[in-house]
Amino acid sequence: MAKVFAIANQKGGVGKTTTCVNLAASLVATKRRVLLIDLDPQGNATMGSGVDKHALENSIYDVLTGECNLVEAMQFSEHGGYQLLPANRDLTAAEVDLLEVKMKESRLRNALAPIRENYDYILIDCPPALSMLTVNALVASDGVIIPMQCEYYALEGLSDLVNSIQRIAKLLNPELRIEGLLRTMYDPRMSLTNDVSAQLKEHFGDKLYQTVIPRNVRLAEAPSFGMPALSYDKQSRGAIAYLALAGELVRRQRANARKAPAL
Ligand SMILES: Nc1ncnc2c1ncn2[C@@H]1O[C@H](COP(=O)(O)OP(=O)(O)OP(=O)(O)O)[C@@H](O)[C@H]1O
Ligand SMILES: [Mg+2]
Repeated sequence: MAKVFAIANQKGGVGKTTTCVNLAASLVATKRRVLLIDLDPQGNATMGSGVDKHALENSIYDVLTGECNLVEAMQFSEHGGYQLLPANRDLTAAEVDLLEVKMKESRLRNALAPIRENYDYILIDCPPALSMLTVNALVASDGVIIPMQCEYYALEGLSDLVNSIQRIAKLLNPELRIEGLLRTMYDPRMSLTNDVSAQLKEHFGDKLYQTVIPRNVRLAEAPSFGMPALSYDKQSRGAIAYLALAGELVRRQRANARKAPAL
């Protein structure tokens, strides 16, 4: 049964999409079966996976509105090695369209239910907003991975996100928890980075991934070729960091499974 993780932070440009694409490809490299869901009308994860967002027959929008089933919208990312549910600007309308349907918060969760056992991991790339799309992602997920830059304002936004996660856990999805916090575009030469890192460690303890993602130009270049960094330049520091993150995530999963009581 797949673990479903939303990659979320309402702050823009913190590395959500970069994390989603590169973590997906790294999990594939460790022989996991992965589905990436692009839930952002910007369609960046779609383009970064090598699929043209302008030429979609079906997209996640059609799945959410019931126009097609999930399998009909799926595409394979050649370079990433994972399945993709693509998105484009059409998804902007979903915010309004969903207002009229019943159980609007659970559309994605219900759509995923029949295919969850076909994957080991399902990663959802969220838009930079605490919108109905993000709520759908959080209701469908077991955990939230929060990418963030170590800057002062990052901490401010974080409490809003944590509050939203807690509210959704209480009202709609009791399974939901914070899976981990990921430091992105990390530059240890800046003293603020180290201060913020120490605060995150204090607040979130083991939830803070030990792996940090360095600022690395290969990570920024790879999407314009529709590739994860692992295909574009597998020796790059960025590609290696995301492989390490996949390893840490899988190890945590195993440790959690050991801790859980046997049924
Ligand atoms: N570790 C990194 N090193 C260098 N550049 C990076 C790194 N991570 C992300 N970037 C670049 O920073 C920009 C923002 O990253 P990304 O698109 O992943 O963020 P996002 O949180 O998904 O943004 P949005 O909120 O708009 O969806 C992109 O141009 C990306 O290529
Ligand atoms: Mg993004």
